[in-house]
Amino acid sequence: MSVPVVSLREITAETVRAICELEPHRAQDGFVAPNAVSIAQAHFNSAAVFRAVYADEAPVGFIMWRPGDDGASCFLWRFMIDKHHQGKGYGRETIALWLKSLPSQGYELARLSYLPGDGGPHGFYLAQGFRDTGETRANGERLMELAL
Ligand SMILES: CC(C)(COP(=O)(O)OP(=O)(O)OC[C@H]1O[C@@H](n2cnc3c(N)ncnc32)[C@H](O)[C@@H]1OP(=O)(O)O)[C@@H](O)C(=O)NCCC(=O)NCCS
Repeated sequence: MSVPVVSLREITAETVRAICELEPHRAQDGFVAPNAVSIAQAHFNSAAVFRAVYADEAPVGFIMWRPGDDGASCFLWRFMIDKHHQGKGYGRETIALWLKSLPSQGYELARLSYLPGDGGPHGFYLAQGFRDTGETRANGERLMELAL
């Protein structure tokens, strides 16, 4: 069987319900907002960009980003792969696609924040080349970045 092709697609009236139904494992709930909340927030932030992650024709995840305050960095705001589709390389492929798209948009740095904890995404992001900046936000989230 061939390896599914991962793509980032715009969410439409026809697909929004399926994307809102994607969710992480229950133990991962605290690491990312529900997709419905992220999509609602995006509609109040004109700079936010959000996409559904597809593996071939199956919706498997969600990613959302926004420009950083400095203009040169892009901030990964939300990212998740559905519990039934984790561990298949889709997360890695999604981040690779996202990172590849950034330099042509003028970005020089990718940034993100994560909550530390068991089952959290820190190790995943390290494996994708991000490094800890040492900064911690008031809400306990830690920052990582990757020079493009
Ligand atoms: C983090 C997440 C997106 C990873 O997606 P995924 O599709 O399961 O990841 P992949 O299958 O592409 O894994 C790629 C590699 O990272 C590793 N990996 C995956 N999750 C990991 C984790 N939490 N910690 C450490 N390594 C991890 C995999 O073992 C794999 O390693 P390999 O390259 O040696 O095979 C997914 O677990 C998720 O949605 N988590 C809940 C939501 C979340 O935490 N989002 C981030 C908010 S900041």
